[in-house]
Amino acid sequence: MNLYSYSSLLGRRIVKCEPNLKYYISPSLKTNTRNIAVFASSSEPNGTSISVSGAHSPICPDFPISGCMEQVMVEYLFGRKKATEVAHYVWKQVVQKGDAVVDATCGNGYDTLALLKLVADKTQRGRVYGMDVQNSALESTSSLLDQFASPDEKELVELFIMSHSQMEDIVPNDMAVRLVAFNLGYLPGGDKKIITKSETTLLALEAAKRILAPGGLISIVTYVGHPGGREEFEKIEDFASILPVESWNCCKLQTLNRPLAPMLMFLFKKWDRIFVLPKHNLVSCF
Ligand SMILES: C[S@@+](CC[C@H](N)C(=O)[O-])C[C@H]1O[C@@H](n2cnc3c(N)ncnc32)[C@H](O)[C@@H]1O
Repeated sequence: MNLYSYSSLLGRRIVKCEPNLKYYISPSLKTNTRNIAVFASSSEPNGTSISVSGAHSPICPDFPISGCMEQVMVEYLFGRKKATEVAHYVWKQVVQKGDAVVDATCGNGYDTLALLKLVADKTQRGRVYGMDVQNSALESTSSLLDQFASPDEKELVELFIMSHSQMEDIVPNDMAVRLVAFNLGYLPGGDKKIITKSETTLLALEAAKRILAPGGLISIVTYVGHPGGREEFEKIEDFASILPVESWNCCKLQTLNRPLAPMLMFLFKKWDRIFVLPKHNLVSCF
């Protein structure tokens, strides 16, 4: 994914600022790696790193969007990457070490583990709140974490047997949540009759909207191949389509000629103000 498509996904425009704080908006920003690297390494209002760009920068080797993101998108276009893999790469652009995130449908725990790896670091500040209505799902998640997460990492995860529509009950009030991930449908290898339902999914999306910090993302993988799946997908689409464009950027990725292929939706909650970062002489404008 290049700079333009990524900043479009997050509803961002690239702004370059002169040292005297006069700034100009640069809609046709050339792929000048230095500008992009400086922009990308500037800070968001919460003091964490911004995640914008698709350039391979010699200046900033740990560039948040590496060639991998671009490669994943291209491979998705050519049918070689799954929707869930694309979702994980998009999360990587938004989630920072130490963040709080929610896995609204733990299932077998692959998403929980991926989220944990994004937030965990030695500060032990990160949190993953995971939930599922099935005990067997939480057991699978726990066992996956036992295999692939360190004891310190596992301490950052809290698992709850509950519906995601109640997520506000378990996320502390003062916690700024960076990402809420939904991977809907039924538990692979489990009881196909226990599935997410459009009514509770919509309640959960409303809750996710309320707890999400500005600059955060609601990520949804939906499936239309099972009973109720298409209705759920359409309801989510309706929900996302009317979110105000001033504060949300909502996108969908869909494989047109595989009508039952999983669909991806990203609802990005924009920053709600213009801010100036004197240190880097940069302005971010959303
Ligand atoms: C496709 S699976 C999730 C896959 C999982 N994220 C992973 O990485 O393996 C969907 C899960 O949603 C769960 N589920 C269904 N209704 C739910 C609800 N109301 N709240 C939370 N989880 C729910 C199911 O039990 C199932 O385990």
